[in-house]
Amino acid sequence: MKVINLGNRHDASFYTACELFNQIERKPESKLGLATGGTMVDVYTHFVNLLKMNDVDVSKVETFNLDEYVGLSQTHPESYHQYMQNVLFDQYPFFTASCVHVPVGDAEDLDAEAERYEQLVQESGPADIQILGIGENGHIGFNEPGTSKKSKTRVVDLTESTIRANSRYFDNEDEVPKQAISMGLSTILSAKRIILLAFGEKKKAAITKLASGVEDADVPATILYEHPNVEIYVDDAAAPDDMGREV
Ligand code: GLP
Repeated sequence: MKVINLGNRHDASFYTACELFNQIERKPESKLGLATGGTMVDVYTHFVNLLKMNDVDVSKVETFNLDEYVGLSQTHPESYHQYMQNVLFDQYPFFTASCVHVPVGDAEDLDAEAERYEQLVQESGPADIQILGIGENGHIGFNEPGTSKKSKTRVVDLTESTIRANSRYFDNEDEVPKQAISMGLSTILSAKRIILLAFGEKKKAAITKLASGVEDADVPATILYEHPNVEIYVDDAAAPDDMGREV
């Protein structure tokens, strides 16, 4: 596993979109593990363009999102359901609704919902590609520092630092949900291939720790060392000073 500096957001996003596109071209019934956040917006823009230009049949593609905020309805503008509608499913409305999966953050029984989601992921089989962003504190999905590597989909408490970081998407910090339903680290590791992206100065510290070669529960993304097929692409601003190191 190695951190690769692709120079800029455009190229890394376009590469990732091409890989998702190629995956579907090769295997129309592919399973895609999808992520949200500012990092992924351009990936979906390029992906939608490729799908449109090539008139791709996505009816058999199954998608699984990593996480969802607790307490937000599916139509809340900052819910990850709504994010996915905006960036992908409304832009290319040919996915099969029953094949699109995002945890339900306003379910009456949240623990039961998390268990249902984990079972769905397991029964469906491993994602062909899982795309990942990374939190400023090194989280993946919403697996905050200290998360067990055996963790499955469950209700998680967000840390102060994540609430602060994600408040940029809300009117103010008080409106950021304090919990989420997130795939666990072991759920994420079940994917066949993982592509992690990080852009901007604010991600540099997390990427530097990820590039250190030391697995550390306080930097959840370092669990990726245990996966045989991970690619990590960053832009120049997020690249560690000490590039070129194999971990
Ligand atoms: C969020 C999401 C993660 C995402 C990360 C980075 O909290 N749960 O899946 O990768 O934080 O978000 P952004 O891309 O907006 O910086």
